[in-house]
Amino acid sequence: NAETRLRDGTRISDLINHETREVKVRTLSDPELYELEMERIFAKTWIFLGHDTEIPNKGDFITRDMGSDAVIVARDRDDQIHVSLNVCPHRAMKVQTHDAGNTNVHMCIYHGWAFKPNGDFIGAPVEKECMHGHMTPKDQLGLKKARVALYGGLIFATWNVDGPTLEEFFGDAKYYFDTLFLRTKGGLEVLGPPQRFRLNANWKTACEQSAADGFHTLTLHRWLAEVGPYAKKPDAEGKGADLSPEMYGSEVWTDHGHAMRCIDLDRKIVRLTGKNPDELSPVERLTALPPPGITPEMIPELLERFDDGQLKLMSWRPPQVGGFFPNGLFEFIYLPQPDGTIVGACALHAYIPKGPDKLEFMNWIFAEKDTPPELKARMLRQSVQMLGTSGMVEMEDSDTWPHQTEVAKGVVSKTITLKYQAKFDKGAPEGWPGPGHVGDGFTKDDTQWAWWKYWHELMTAE
Ligand code: FES
Ligand code: FE
Repeated sequence: NAETRLRDGTRISDLINHETREVKVRTLSDPELYELEMERIFAKTWIFLGHDTEIPNKGDFITRDMGSDAVIVARDRDDQIHVSLNVCPHRAMKVQTHDAGNTNVHMCIYHGWAFKPNGDFIGAPVEKECMHGHMTPKDQLGLKKARVALYGGLIFATWNVDGPTLEEFFGDAKYYFDTLFLRTKGGLEVLGPPQRFRLNANWKTACEQSAADGFHTLTLHRWLAEVGPYAKKPDAEGKGADLSPEMYGSEVWTDHGHAMRCIDLDRKIVRLTGKNPDELSPVERLTALPPPGITPEMIPELLERFDDGQLKLMSWRPPQVGGFFPNGLFEFIYLPQPDGTIVGACALHAYIPKGPDKLEFMNWIFAEKDTPPELKARMLRQSVQMLGTSGMVEMEDSDTWPHQTEVAKGVVSKTITLKYQAKFDKGAPEGWPGPGHVGDGFTKDDTQWAWWKYWHELMTAE
């Protein structure tokens, strides 16, 4: 609750100042706080673990993490997906030591206890000979099961069996997420296994940025304007490349810390069509600049699946980058190419906490199942070039997080604050179709502040 204190007497509530919108730097490195986060956030909320196309066949499995706990994500003989704690109830060996595979029997290598893909106990090798009936009843010997929910093939799980449904947890964000994850009947598919990297950074450095930090693009990723895909030769007035138009749009945030930047596409549509975007219908706009992974031939399917409001959003200010609380990020971005065309990229990231100053960066790259193969190949190449720790854009993000984490350990540094004081002074623009808290104009800090507010709510909950 609000009175929860760290061992040195600091109240968690004193780490965050709601009036001035500041957070103590200490929050980015404190080991005690980290332990509490594992209990109060990662063991309580829905956690994104992967996509069902990673385990397409009966018996397929992947091993993942829900906060500090290892889990097995497995598809059973009935095509149901289960998430079970990857810890043997015998002597706590990790049951499944592979990253991925296919089996109907997960056998612990230590003493041979065996489990079904749904976590149920099958048996132990010397059960009858050695246990003489003293064994705990079999129905209590399975792996601990998490509650699972699938959404557009995305696999989420939680230990909070009685908590909100995934849909309730998404809240107002679902309206926007649907335009990304439920676009076609065939659905999304992963283009290969996720990339995985370890960084010496606290998970929150990456995750508060994922809650739609727009400003850093102008400086940290400035090369995009100077030599990269947004670069253009200086015009008659000597003005060269400029990323600032990419900072305009609408930003959306929810009470559960989900956040996104819905960046205005007008500039790109003008470049592609030479026409005034205001005079184009949503269908004409979508045809001129289809969403990432969608071709003009696939537009009729979008018209069937979405209402006018969502089509307007997708053709005008689609969600392009944002986060799902606590540790997921999506990027459905439009990447200008040297030949004037635009190639989309669809990626999800998860930043898995691995200690107060360590995280694992996971990067999944997607296309629709129905995306033509040669577009899939271009999307994959673009994503690998730009994203992840070896991608040209995100190697820069991956460089800042360890620095933030390292300096946050200093005895003086700990006491200063992170600041989130850029505030929207305008709500949703006229004709905005979607729900949630919405700000209009140049990017601001409200989305990230909403992330911290929900962090605080969970950290101080009863
Ligand atoms: Fe798994 Fe003993 S620890 S069988
Ligand atoms: Fe970035």
